[in-house]
Amino acid sequence: MPEGNGSLNNVISLSDIRRVFVMGDQQFEALKGVSFGVAEGEFVAIMGASGSGKSTCMNILGCLDRPTAGEYLLDGVDVGAMNHDQLADIRNRKLGFVFQGFNLLARTPAVENVELPLVYAKVSAKERHRKAMAAMEQVGLGGKEMNHPSQLSGGQQQRVAIARALVNSPAVILADEPTGNLDSTTSEEIMALFTDLNRQGITIIMVTHEADVAAYAGRRITFRDGRIIGDTRG
Ligand SMILES: Nc1ncnc2c1ncn2[C@@H]1O[C@H](COP(=O)(O)OP(=O)(O)OP(=O)(O)O)[C@@H](O)[C@H]1O
Ligand SMILES: [Mg+2]
Repeated sequence: MPEGNGSLNNVISLSDIRRVFVMGDQQFEALKGVSFGVAEGEFVAIMGASGSGKSTCMNILGCLDRPTAGEYLLDGVDVGAMNHDQLADIRNRKLGFVFQGFNLLARTPAVENVELPLVYAKVSAKERHRKAMAAMEQVGLGGKEMNHPSQLSGGQQQRVAIARALVNSPAVILADEPTGNLDSTTSEEIMALFTDLNRQGITIIMVTHEADVAAYAGRRITFRDGRIIGDTRG
């Protein structure tokens, strides 16, 4: 198989990704040649010390940032060749995002938060509502659809964020420290939900500092100083 092409069922393929941040006359290389593939259906934890490049890598995976050099194939499509609108479109169709801070609209009912990716995807109001209700059910929040985020617990708010990430049936869910703001019991519940979603075939890539959270993943990739220093399965 040609180098950099990855395996055919790789939903994500990074080859020699570099990211240099320029600040005035200073340069900082946050990623120094990162390569890995993620097969459909994998559950990957990305670990490493603060400042090692995890979020920089996730932002590139999420098409929120572009690498300075290297190749990124998302579902076989070369993301590097895309313009701003094409990136927004592929982000919306292929990816779901879960953040540490939930990033929900505070004055908006939970179900309408979940509908948001479908608004951008121009799905009809009726279909949006139907899909969002189903996603709320899928994350165990049936009955809480009309609650505003402030009327939900932290774990429930993160479930709303996960429902929002699921609603457009993405190829991959990207989660940066999804349990970072949660106590350990609630973290376990969220990880049980991720495990369940992964068993249903959803590919998940998750950043975490915590070994017990990473233990839920089938594979752990460890960053140090902008490089991968470990990649273990099982
Ligand atoms: N926009 C930016 N401009 C300049 N430097 C940046 C920028 N974003 C990140 N960096 C630098 O790149 C390095 C990697 O940052 P990154 O946010 O990827 O770390 P991280 O592994 O996610 O850390 P944490 O565990 O604290 O979230 C850091 O040294 C950071 O200061
Ligand atoms: Mg980070």
